[in-house]
Amino acid sequence: MTAGNEFEGKRALVTGASRGIGRAVAIGLAGRGARVAVHYHQDRVAAEETLSRLAGEGHASLSADLADPAAARAMVEKGAEHLGGLDILVNNAGVYEHHPIDRLGFDEWLDAWNRTIGVNLLGAVHTTYAAVRHLIAAGGGKIVNVTSRGAFRGEPNAPAYGASKAGLNSFSQSLAVALAPHRIFVTAVAPGWVETDMAAPFLSGPEGEAIRNQSPLRRVARPEEIAETVLFLASSRSDFLTGAVVDANGASYLRT
Ligand SMILES: NC(=O)c1ccc[n+]([C@@H]2O[C@H](COP(=O)([O-])OP(=O)(O)OC[C@H]3O[C@@H](n4cnc5c(N)ncnc54)[C@H](OP(=O)(O)O)[C@@H]3O)[C@@H](O)[C@H]2O)c1
Repeated sequence: MTAGNEFEGKRALVTGASRGIGRAVAIGLAGRGARVAVHYHQDRVAAEETLSRLAGEGHASLSADLADPAAARAMVEKGAEHLGGLDILVNNAGVYEHHPIDRLGFDEWLDAWNRTIGVNLLGAVHTTYAAVRHLIAAGGGKIVNVTSRGAFRGEPNAPAYGASKAGLNSFSQSLAVALAPHRIFVTAVAPGWVETDMAAPFLSGPEGEAIRNQSPLRRVARPEEIAETVLFLASSRSDFLTGAVVDANGASYLRT
């Protein structure tokens, strides 16, 4: 087996794969032999574009609002049915919105927290619950959660985002222990800024230069660079990393 076909025979579900990091992950997995269920929320055209870029055959696209627990579970079941089971889950879908505590009314504040925790944390949690049944049936597997540097560095203008990602890091660590007896390996990758739609308004705005300069490399990550880390964590080459939260932030934030 070479890295070129290391996911041959593997069945992978990637959430939020219509765009950005998730799309790069889906392309990478399919390029190395996996069949991929491309999850998206509303952007069907973008999801179809991802599908059209996947090497090999037998892929599918699936829509669900991950803030809806029943929809998340149903989406996993549909994906597993299409693929004939599941070996790899990448919880990547996420939302980011500004909700500064000193400038919002309580209703807006509440909405922002509910949306952010609902998608970024609970969406991943319930997707995982459903997927774990299939990973156990497959005799083991991989779960990779896409979190954020913000879990450690803080998100002053989006505290629910930082909290959602810190929660997802903790969830990853708990499950690494709980699922080890099933040979299910659980990790997280915590990117800094990445060139995607989520970051575009900030990168093209007045603070863009300062954001790029947070890294001594004087740039932000490309989605493919984060995907490469996800692929490594999803592969059998990284089993002993289970429980790890891997920083992928270009030395823009060094935690001890
Ligand atoms: N970009 C960054 O700078 C950065 C930094 C650190 C961490 N991250 C994390 O990396 C992950 C991917 O981010 P990205 O930058 O690639 O994002 P993106 O380009 O904005 O894409 C977001 C993805 O999440 C899906 N999504 C949004 N709301 C959803 C919902 N309610 N239910 C289900 N799916 C939903 C979107 O589906 P549709 O296309 O259908 O809308 C899309 O596929 C996120 O978890 C993000 O927090 C990003």
